[in-house]
Amino acid sequence: MQHVAFHYATMEELEAESKKLNAFIPLSGRTEQIFQPLGIGEKEAANRIAFQPMEGTDGTEDGAPGELTVRRYHRFAKAGPGLIWFEAVATVPEARASAHQLMITEKNVDSFRRLTDEIREISLKENGNAPVIVMQATNSGRYSKPHGYPEPLIAYNCPPLEDSPLGKDRIVSDGDLKRFEEAYTRAARLAGEAGFDGMDIKCCHRYLACELLSAYTRPGEYGGSWENRTRFLKNCYRAAEGGKPGNGFFLTSRLNVYDGFEWPWGFGVREGGGLAPDMTEPVRLIRELQDEFRIPLINVTMGNPYRNPHVNRPYDHGNYVPDEHPLEGIGRMMRGVSEIQHAVPGLPVIGSAFSYVRQWAGNLAAGMLEGGHCAMAGFGRMAFADPEFVHELRGTGSIQPGGCCVTCGGCAKLLRAGTPAGCIVRDREVYRL
Ligand SMILES: Cc1cc2nc3c(=O)[nH]c(=O)nc-3n(C[C@H](O)[C@H](O)[C@H](O)COP(=O)(O)O)c2cc1C
Repeated sequence: MQHVAFHYATMEELEAESKKLNAFIPLSGRTEQIFQPLGIGEKEAANRIAFQPMEGTDGTEDGAPGELTVRRYHRFAKAGPGLIWFEAVATVPEARASAHQLMITEKNVDSFRRLTDEIREISLKENGNAPVIVMQATNSGRYSKPHGYPEPLIAYNCPPLEDSPLGKDRIVSDGDLKRFEEAYTRAARLAGEAGFDGMDIKCCHRYLACELLSAYTRPGEYGGSWENRTRFLKNCYRAAEGGKPGNGFFLTSRLNVYDGFEWPWGFGVREGGGLAPDMTEPVRLIRELQDEFRIPLINVTMGNPYRNPHVNRPYDHGNYVPDEHPLEGIGRMMRGVSEIQHAVPGLPVIGSAFSYVRQWAGNLAAGMLEGGHCAMAGFGRMAFADPEFVHELRGTGSIQPGGCCVTCGGCAKLLRAGTPAGCIVRDREVYRL
């Protein structure tokens, strides 16, 4: 198997290839609908573009935003997306994904406050409106590397993720989980003090809360039944409710609706259903989060960036060649996002993984919005490459290929190496420091 090079010179060519592959990739030329506002609880996003959380591994040792972090968010703010989903911020030191992952504390909360103030100021000046800013609160679980080497905090032994015995015995106890839940009270209070509009209780990509959703084989209070598998996530919400300010600040999640592993090792699949996505449990969970915690939006994603990155962020470069066409990966994501949005029509859904289609990403966003398949289009790697695509899209109705992400995976490699991450093709400034 070889990578399929991206070669679609027109929207029609992309459409024809998607049809041939039976991939759900709705496209539209009516990109002006992207620039309609959207109400999110008591807040309003000026347009339908969300910048997805993109970790830069460039925080200071104590978890404050570093020079490159500040630069990244200034660039994002200037571009004018309606919402900035601020990257993963650790809730406890032992569950940091790297020694340079952001981590909000009483000591550094002012530096986060300064940054959210600057984001609003810059966007107001450049675009006439300020983005909604959500902080992603995380516990990296299995992927914790607080000192630069793996110190996993595992929910349960999961064979598809464990081809080496290293760290397999580091299963977190129920007592640890309770302590991790409590940390979300403080995280919500600090996120409020730091000026965020809301907080994401991160539940994706097989970090701790996400991994627990498929903990069928874990004994005790946090494994087996639906109630037990969702207990950690819901208890984190309950804890966060106790810390959040009362100024319209909201709670939400970035949620894996499909992990890409067969039952009983994955969420969003059913027993005997192989790798086929099944949205029954994800829809049930989102409805329960709506009922109990009044979430005003949900950010839908899939996959595990370590084991099946093609599910999470389809690409056409890199060492690992998946046995599916990247457009099939995009189709799976868009179909999942659409199924969720149609199941909860009153709840704005943010879709993920728009970057692979490069200069046609605005058309995919418009097609998804037009069909009511999502309420916002979320961009990750494109924002790293050149966030200015938002202005291009607003000004001309299209995106020029020259600034687009080329899906080379360079940013992810930097992240894995624990060094400052950014676009190695379009933004060489990330190497400066
Ligand atoms: C370098 C890098 C850092 C990322 N950091 C985060 C993160 O902090 N939180 C998160 O939920 N997803 C993170 N992601 C995943 C992206 O938000 C996004 O889901 C993925 O790249 C697919 O979207 P795209 O095709 O628009 O890039 C990261 C991805 C990359 C490549």
